[in-house]
Amino acid sequence: MYLQKSGIIALVLAIVLAAAPFALADKDGVAYPEGFRTFTHVTTGIVTPGFIFNGVDLGSLVPGLHNIYANKKAMRSYYELAAGSTSTIFKDGAVIAFDLWQPGTLATGTGSFTFQQTRIAVAVMEKDRKKYAATGGWGFQVFDPATKTPQLNAAQQAECFACHSITPDTDFVFSKFSD
Ligand code: HEC
Repeated sequence: MYLQKSGIIALVLAIVLAAAPFALADKDGVAYPEGFRTFTHVTTGIVTPGFIFNGVDLGSLVPGLHNIYANKKAMRSYYELAAGSTSTIFKDGAVIAFDLWQPGTLATGTGSFTFQQTRIAVAVMEKDRKKYAATGGWGFQVFDPATKTPQLNAAQQAECFACHSITPDTDFVFSKFSD
């Protein structure tokens, strides 16, 4: 009897856990990466106005300071890439967050201090080879940092991939991890 009961509890738990990602996902499938600030920091970059990359005005699209974070599944592939792999395919469930900030500057003495001031957006890549087959297995989304609501429609998501698709050797991921 006890065994039967625990079997049923395990079954119910399995169903609840299996349904959870769908409950958390937004309508296009990419979920806000809750807790991403505790993911591993991959790298930091600064983009200034007028920076054109692959024909796109990234200076307007992502101006400011960004920090990139990867969850455990994504980190496994970042480590492989850092070790020189050219055949790495990120696993389903890999999540990478691009945390965009408007910097502030404090000028004093003869120098200045530039710091994270206001969060502008949280851009995300989430791996699911089946769901996002049309965009290299990656779901792309940008979230409003205050409301955590998704900002991109399908056409805009295709534009994200149009640029990321130029780096197939790293499974469409640009940033590099180094110890
Ligand atoms: C014109 C090219 C271009 C476009 C368009 C673009 N990205 Fe990127 N993206 C980059 C580059 C370059 C990096 C690496 C930045 C770094 O290393 O600091 C990057 C990094 C990222 C990362 C971190 C993972 C990685 O590949 O390094 C995410 C997440 C991301 N972009 C999401 C998006 C989303 C969402 C969109 C669409 C709104 C988008 N990107 C559009 C060029 C682009």
